Amino acid sequence: MGTCEPFRICRNTWVIPQLEEAPPVGCFFLNSAVITGAEPVVIDTGTPVNRTRWLEHLGSIVDPTDVRWIFISHDDVDHAGNLAPLMELCPKAIVLTSWFAVGRMVSTDGIDLPMNRIRFVNDGDEVDIGDRKLRALLPPIFDNPTTRGVFDPSTGFYWAADCFGAPVPGFVPEADDVPAADWREGFLMLHRMLSPWHTMLDHRRYGAAVVDRLQALPITTVASAHGPVVRGSRITDGFRMLRELPHTGAYQPFTQHDLQSWIDTASTVGPIDAATA
Ligand SMILES: [Fe+2]
Ligand SMILES: [Fe+2]
Repeated sequence: MGTCEPFRICRNTWVIPQLEEAPPVGCFFLNSAVITGAEPVVIDTGTPVNRTRWLEHLGSIVDPTDVRWIFISHDDVDHAGNLAPLMELCPKAIVLTSWFAVGRMVSTDGIDLPMNRIRFVNDGDEVDIGDRKLRALLPPIFDNPTTRGVFDPSTGFYWAADCFGAPVPGFVPEADDVPAADWREGFLMLHRMLSPWHTMLDHRRYGAAVVDRLQALPITTVASAHGPVVRGSRITDGFRMLRELPHTGAYQPFTQHDLQSWIDTASTVGPIDAATA
């Protein structure tokens, strides 16, 4: 399902989508983004399984030799999975990352990250990209300790990494086009899965530490790796749900009983076990 095309979400800002089926809840995006300003920025790098298509999509938005910055929100493979080939294609690009993320990528992926092509960008840091200054900002919910989102004050665009995601019924790029009840259910499900420690949060400290700070910004457009683009009143709704999380119970994962029922259903269609095929 990775055939959907890149789309512009606000001035100089594009999403490169990838869509994967995730039965029985629908589909999940595995997005990345590009800012095509004076010094183009690639934000996250897609997945290795979609590498050829992702690189084609990137090339349809910007000449890779013009790319000056590669912002890695965190080192999960669905965000940093094409970093190595991207660095080769973008010889002028500096990787915006962190010491911890570099260590994790070098030691587990074996990626070559020369020090003169890295800049450490921690939560709250700004990066001057010629015609604007981007600011790295922690999203309220994340699944990896190296995570930082990024805010573009010139457009009000915020890249939320894994936060603000939700399943979709198909290629539905705008959250406004997902029925509100479905979006709410999927949004809460994904955030409870991503950060199972939500049940341990002091809601006042969590709200003041990360939600207030982000919501105070003039954000107009939220894009994330795993959901449709969020705008307008849906941004307010999203922040409200993020504040609800400490009060929601633990996510109840699918069980072996669920898996067996899926196997039983599939076996009525045809053999699924190689030994019986
Ligand atoms: Fe992640
Ligand atoms: Fe992710």
